[in-house]
Amino acid sequence: MPEIEMFDMFSTPFLHGRLSEQAVAESLAGLEKLKERFPGNQPHPFHCDIWTTYECERNLFKDPNFATVTNEINVIATEYCRKRKAKVEARMTEFWANVQNLGQFQETHHHKGRMISGSLYLKVPQDETGAITFNTPRTHMYDDQYWDCDADKEYISIIPEIGDIYMFPSWIMHGTRPVKEQRISMAFNYVAVT
Ligand SMILES: [Fe+2]
Repeated sequence: MPEIEMFDMFSTPFLHGRLSEQAVAESLAGLEKLKERFPGNQPHPFHCDIWTTYECERNLFKDPNFATVTNEINVIATEYCRKRKAKVEARMTEFWANVQNLGQFQETHHHKGRMISGSLYLKVPQDETGAITFNTPRTHMYDDQYWDCDADKEYISIIPEIGDIYMFPSWIMHGTRPVKEQRISMAFNYVAVT
């Protein structure tokens, strides 16, 4: 019998972390206060719709109500940069909330021009509608016609749990599905500082 070895080449570096319970609780409380600053003249809090982020404040890292979670994200981002042997410093430039109510979703997109992007989860339906879906950067290969393991799927969906945080290269395409019940996440970007 000859020897064989399978390995995945050119993998994409993703980080999964878990925020403290304090960071989750303070973030949810912070969003309630944020809601007060965005009184509802639209059907949804925060003026959120399918493109939930456009009408929300994008600089929540400056808001003291989100100080704990911002600090934890920065700690995790520092570790992400260390593990990837970053050649530049990374600085958070955007941090915002996504509140999706019945039927709302985030279209597949990327965060072009940033270095690191990520999301964290405060309330998630524990079924497929709560998932975030990442697209392989190799879509032109269409390997999923022939193979059925994670490395060859066009899409990989993850159903996050409360407190989960993911970081990934900003060019990764990602999106969510229409939800059956409310889903609350927050997202952020880092840019390179030279
Ligand atoms: Fe995004």
